[in-house]
Parts: sequence; structure tokens; C-alpha cells
Amino acid sequence: MDFSGIDISIPSVCFFQDNDKLSFKEINNILKGKSGIVDFFEKEDDFKQIRETLMNSQSIVAESQVEYGDYQTNQQLTQLVCNYLSNKNINPQILIEPTCGKGNFILSAIQTFKNLEQVWGIEIQEKYLWQLKFSLLEYYLKNPQANKPEIHLYHYDVFNFDFQKIKEQISGKELLVIGNPPWVTNTTLSSLNSKNLPEKSNFKQAKGIDAITGKGNFDIGEFIALKMLDLFSKENGHFAFLIKNSVIKNIVFEQKRNNYPIADFEKHTINAQKEFGAAVDASLFVCKFNSTPEFTAKEYNFYTSQKRTVLGWVNNKFASDIEKYKKYQHLDGVCPFEWRQGIKHDCAKVMELERIDGGFRNQLGEEFELEEDLIYGILKSSDLKAESIDTPRKYTIVTQKKIGENTEKVLSKLPKTKEYLQKHKEYFSQRKSSIYNGKPMFSIFGIGDYSFKPYKVAISGLYKQTKFTLVKPSDTVLLLDDTCYFIGFDNLEDAQTVQNELNNSEMQEFIQSFMFTDAKRAITKDLLMRIYLKTAIVPERYSWNLFG
Ligand SMILES: C[S@@+](CC[C@H](N)C(=O)[O-])C[C@H]1O[C@@H](n2cnc3c(N)ncnc32)[C@H](O)[C@@H]1O
Repeated sequence: MDFSGIDISIPSVCFFQDNDKLSFKEINNILKGKSGIVDFFEKEDDFKQIRETLMNSQSIVAESQVEYGDYQTNQQLTQLVCNYLSNKNINPQILIEPTCGKGNFILSAIQTFKNLEQVWGIEIQEKYLWQLKFSLLEYYLKNPQANKPEIHLYHYDVFNFDFQKIKEQISGKELLVIGNPPWVTNTTLSSLNSKNLPEKSNFKQAKGIDAITGKGNFDIGEFIALKMLDLFSKENGHFAFLIKNSVIKNIVFEQKRNNYPIADFEKHTINAQKEFGAAVDASLFVCKFNSTPEFTAKEYNFYTSQKRTVLGWVNNKFASDIEKYKKYQHLDGVCPFEWRQGIKHDCAKVMELERIDGGFRNQLGEEFELEEDLIYGILKSSDLKAESIDTPRKYTIVTQKKIGENTEKVLSKLPKTKEYLQKHKEYFSQRKSSIYNGKPMFSIFGIGDYSFKPYKVAISGLYKQTKFTLVKPSDTVLLLDDTCYFIGFDNLEDAQTVQNELNNSEMQEFIQSFMFTDAKRAITKDLLMRIYLKTAIVPERYSWNLFG
């Protein structure tokens, strides 16, 4: 172990310097008496090494690591959280911090909860456990009379940790599972080739295309939160985790299926930028174990206690603002049309084109001529700001009219387009997504009859705004890229009628009552398919696009 990076305080250094003659066994006994920590040194080698280091003691700052989703909670915040819980009369005897880091939650809990008998902390980065051990030692050297629970600290991977040994100790005692689990997703970890993943890495059970396109993406923090609820929700006690708002939404959403015996859900929003320097929406999520299952969470501002909304289940429907939702519930249903996602090609450098005098320019800066046959104007999320649009900034080559179609035949009649695509074929073969595996060369996705309808009502999946844009044809029918959703129409009047219905104030309020603005993608196909459109459009005319 490299101890050179641990921040060890002066009183702790002095303690070791004063006791430099003690043996490994003796020092562990004294340290247990002073600090409550069982086996402060697990290995004699560590003891020898650290004693040596401390004779020339230095300090370090720990590095934050993407792989470990490492955002240590500052002690001011951990203290506020513990004070809040204590004011709610939460007074645990047993505390579990499953990914304790430097242990500020443990330090604050020890100072706040006077009934604590046992503390269990687990952490994968060894340097943090040393940091915590010395912080605890310092605290108890300064406060010898303070309550001294037995403290068990494990340098371990939480995904493989055997929590059974803790469960055996609980036997009816008041438990608090507290912490701030890693802020990183399985997708990021996979891209880093990291092994810091649970074995069941597809625990969302996303299948086929959903697994490929991101529905199997999850936060490691969500996995750990659910693991804790799985293990401990039947015990007496509470759960208090700082987690991303998207994770809280998922916990409440999945509660319908999980039916954990948990209740009194509270979501206290924090300023993650201020507390962690992280541009995410996060909150303190609190709930009570061993209760009749509940399915809604009350939202507050953590700093002012101001009440906000209530999110969760209303019968079989999920809402972000239940009060508002109940006013517009009659608009909830199944959309008669199928919302479609736009074209996916994953080859912007070659496929995103600008029209220039007499030809086109690609993102590589190359200028060339192409036949017009496969050229279509294409809109991106950022183009969908106005009420209507009929002029594209970009063009693309539509190599297929439906998914999987052979591309050779059409290209054989278009020599310039064929030559251009062939010249850049390595850009296509380097596409990472496995959806392209085994498909014809230059394949695209998100394409079908619906793509070529002249009028469309569209919305961006990237932004939070809920107004819908009318898309009209220009020199070509306009297509949308895969960040947008749309319904296609044959005539302007029908498209306008649907756009008006979607943009009226009642519908807008309804959409906002069940959309989650802090999600990475606030507008999704699932959300759009919940909008029941009552506008009278002759359904037979649209049988090609009717849903269900
Ligand atoms: C967001 S930080 C929070 C640390 C601490 N809970 C706090 O509130 O300050 C997440 C912690 O999880 C630890 N961690 C990441 N992966 C882990 C794993 N597989 N097992 C145990 N700890 C892990 C990181 O090293 C980091 O200390």
C-alpha cells in the first residue's frame, strides 16, 4: 500500500510518535480503545510501513477518479444531512455506509447519533480508508469522552461484499443506511474498459435494440441503492442517500414492480454544482424501512425546506407533478399515431452535408458533386425552435428507403454518389454501434415510409421545451435526425390540426405534469405515446402510421 497520499492530521502523527515502541498487537488494542476501530491495522506490514511514513509525515490530496464515480461529500453537507435526520427523530444504533470514501458521513453520524453501537463502512480505494481511520483517530484523541461505537471498515468492492455478516448483527436494532454512491454509469465504465461493475451488468434487463441504444444504461449508484433496499428494507430503520434525481425517479418508478416495504419518501434537492462541482441534478433521498409500501415522493428544497411537488404513481400512471397531473389526467392515454425517431447514420463527417454552389461540402471540408436522387434536407434538434420550419441548414444522403434494404442496386445508377460513399467507406465500417453489424454497406436506421411524408409535427428529444414544430417541405421533403421525434402527414391541414392540439396550453401543462426535466432525455417516445390526441383526422388515411 502506498501511504504517501493520505491526509493525516498532526494529533494522529503525534499519537504514533508517542507510541513508537508498541507492538502490532498492542497498537491495535490501544487504537480500538481510543477510536472503536476493530483491527485498525489488518496486516503487520501496513503497521510497520505507516509508522515509518509517520516519522516523516506528509499529506496528500486524493485524486478524483471517473472510474469510481468519485465525488466526496464535504463535511458541512454530511453534517446538515445528519442533523436533518436527527431532527426527524432518526436515531440509529447501526450505521452502514456502503461506499464510504473518506468517510465524512461516518464522521458526522458519529458526532450526531448518540445511540450508535456499530458502524460499517466499505470502500474500494484503500487510501480513503486510511484517511478515514486517521480522521476517526484524530476525532477521538480530541474527544476521548465521545460515544465510541464499534467501527468496522473494509477495503472491499461493494459489488462482492458479503452483507450477510452485517445482517446477522442487526436483530431488530435501528438501522441507518447512509451515503453517496458512485456517480458513474455502466456505459461510461464500459468505454473505459473498467471492471468496476456489478456482475449483473444488464440488471435493467434491456433486450435487443433497447440494450444497444441505451435503455440498458444505468447509474452504478442506482444499482447500489437498489441492492441496499433489497438487503435491508425489511429491517427497522431508514435509508438516506445522496443520488442523482434520475436515480430517485427510477427508484420510485421501479417501486411499483419491486414493492419494497418502504415509505415516507422524501426528495430534498441540493445544489450539486456548489457541493460537488458537478453539473447534475441531485438530491438527498430518504425513506423509512419496514413499512407498508408507498409509491410517491415529496420534493423539497434541502436548504430552505420549501415544499415543491410530489412525484410518483397515480393508480397506474407515473407523474412528475401529481397535483398538476390530476387536473389533466383525462388527456392521458395512448396516442393513436406512432411517434417515430429520425434518421440514425452515426457518420456525421461524411453524411452531414452543406449545399454550396454547384455541389456539396462535408464536415471534412471536402467539396464534391452528387446526383440529387438520394439527397434530402435534414433537421436536427437545434432546428426545432420555431413554430414552423421549411428550410434546412443541412442535407444528407438517404441510402435506403427502409431498414436493411440492399444499397448496391440504387447506387449502381448513381455513379457520383457511389464514388463518394466508396471513397469514405472506412467511416461507415468504423461505426461502433452493433446495429450496423451484418447490414448492407452504408446502412442507415430510423427510416421507413413515414420518413418521406411531406408534413411533419416534430419535437426535439434533447431539449426540455415542450412546444411542437411544424415541418414543411422545401426543395426536398425534410427529414429529421435521431435526436428528434415526429409524426408524418400527407397534408398541411392535418399536420396543423395536430400541432395546434399539442401546443394548446392545457396539453402543454399535461405534458409538463409527467415529464422529468432533469432526465438526460426529457422527451422520449414513451412520453409522447402517452398523449392521447382527440383531433378529428380521418384515421383510415393514416392506417400506415396508426399505433397498436
Ligand atoms: C460519490 S463518492 C462518495 C464517497 C462517500 N460516500 C461520501 O459521501 O463522501 C463514491 C465512492 O464510492 C467508491 N466506490 C466506487 N466504486 C466502488 C466499489 N465497487 N466498491 C466500493 N466503493 C466504491 C469511490 O471510491 C468513492 O469513494
